[in-house]
Amino acid sequence: MPLELLRNDITKMNVDVIVNAANTSLLGGGGVDGAIHEAAGPDLLKACKALGECLVGEAKITQGYLLPAKYVIHTVGPVWQGGRHQEAKLLRNCYLNSLELAEHHRLQSIAFPLISTGAYGYPKDRALQIALSSIETFLQDHEMMVYLVSFDRESFELSEQLFVDIQSYIDDQYVEVAVKKARSTSVKRKLREPLRCLDNQEYKNVVYEYKTQRVKLIELVEQVDMTFSQSLLQLIDEKGLSDVETYKKANISRKLFSKIRSNDNYQPSKLTALAFAIALQLNFDETQKLLARAGFALSNSSKFDIIIQYFILQGRYDIHEINAALFKFDQRLLGQS
Ligand code: APR
Repeated sequence: MPLELLRNDITKMNVDVIVNAANTSLLGGGGVDGAIHEAAGPDLLKACKALGECLVGEAKITQGYLLPAKYVIHTVGPVWQGGRHQEAKLLRNCYLNSLELAEHHRLQSIAFPLISTGAYGYPKDRALQIALSSIETFLQDHEMMVYLVSFDRESFELSEQLFVDIQSYIDDQYVEVAVKKARSTSVKRKLREPLRCLDNQEYKNVVYEYKTQRVKLIELVEQVDMTFSQSLLQLIDEKGLSDVETYKKANISRKLFSKIRSNDNYQPSKLTALAFAIALQLNFDETQKLLARAGFALSNSSKFDIIIQYFILQGRYDIHEINAALFKFDQRLLGQS
């Protein structure tokens, strides 16, 4: 999974480089800046003094000293001033310049905090969107493992509207599950009772319901003639996507994709199978068919499945937006598990 969201203290990340949300003096401060300097030890300050200042949006690199990370990239985010002072562009530059600098030093794994969302007051939902879109842009043409680390789940803010929409969709589906359960127990109860107690229409409904479930099951069984991999490759061709576009959109590493491509009987995790369904922008039924080939299905019985259904039914297929929502609702993320 080239871009992963996780909760952690960034000073504990064992990666090639962690990114520091510094200020222009590079002489340390509070927040993540203070935590990194404290964990790295006094040599980091000495190295920063030798670097001189750093402009907003720029990035400079030092060793990691006592940190588990080999290096620290110091970048300076914009102070939020209402959004009319190039804040979005400068924040985007922080991520892109840090990634380019890591690439220049041939580093393979990098961890970012949510730059500017603390002392600098950048609205968290906007900052998250800028972080995700700039990292996604970089990953289109580069191979690197990128972690977006939040100290606490609260730091990851979805847009208020998106959060409310998802929450109410989850509530609706849960209600529907409850109603269906109630109805199916009543159907089951009725099935147990001698059928003669049902009036004609009710009898027909019960039989129809039973038959459609059976038909669905038969359809599902019939579909197993194609394996998951075969079906995936056929869908990629049908959608006119390249392999690279597909695994990038699925937030899947090239290595895993080539494993799937070369093994007709590869058994993916549900997270991986769904990541491809999102990358291919499959509708709900197409998604169910692809999942069925790997032995999975979306249902209303899990919050994770309901959130995925929400995005599919909304036609929103940005896997990083979906992962930010899944992360916010404390669910596993799409991609390779
Ligand atoms: N690990 C991960 N994330 C952290 C950590 C940590 N150890 N400590 C803080 N954070 C998070 C905060 O919760 C916030 O979401 O990092 C994000 C950035 O917050 P700040 O550290 O306040 O950085 P920023 O908003 O960019 O302000 C930079 O603050 O510390 C000073 O010297 C720094 O002047 C600069 C300004």
